[in-house]
Amino acid sequence: MERITTKIALAQDLGVHGNLFGGNMLSWIDEAAAALASRTCQSANMVTVKLEEVVFKKAVKEGFLIHIYGEVEHIGNTSIRLSMEARKHNVYTGEEEAVATTKITFVHIDSHGNPIPIKQEIKKQFPNADP
Ligand SMILES: CC(C)(COP(=O)(O)OP(=O)(O)OC[C@H]1O[C@@H](n2cnc3c(N)ncnc32)[C@H](O)[C@@H]1OP(=O)(O)O)[C@@H](O)C(=O)NCCC(=O)NCCS
Repeated sequence: MERITTKIALAQDLGVHGNLFGGNMLSWIDEAAAALASRTCQSANMVTVKLEEVVFKKAVKEGFLIHIYGEVEHIGNTSIRLSMEARKHNVYTGEEEAVATTKITFVHIDSHGNPIPIKQEIKKQFPNADP
């Protein structure tokens, strides 16, 4: 997996239990995934169509450094499915541990919001793409 972005859990990001609010984590993951989808498909016109099971494996506390990783799982005709993982980073030891995982699918759209094909030359770079 490739590291896409890094966030710091700030006080305003926490929920009532002092843990990072899940919706904030989802927003971070969705943004990182959108960046990966856009870069991969060479288009800014990518919309989220599906967010699969999200697992919050570990609590995230204030001050934690969170790296968001992603990789391409599959490219279809107009869609791209990404595997995403957020990991907390221990700044003292360099150790990382998964805190949240999910898979997200984006669709390449035109200016009217209709799905359009992902370029063939991009798909050729991925063995897990549809022909
Ligand atoms: C994304 C959107 C344009 C797709 O339109 P659609 O009419 O469903 O399009 P299609 O049925 O032709 O499907 C297009 C692609 O999306 C995929 N897709 C559609 N629904 C899907 C679902 N529930 N799960 C996974 N993939 C899905 C299709 O498999 C297809 O992929 P492929 O071309 O690679 O085979 C439309 O659903 C939409 O505008 N959704 C809102 C997007 C949005 O606003 N996102 C922000 C979230 S708030």
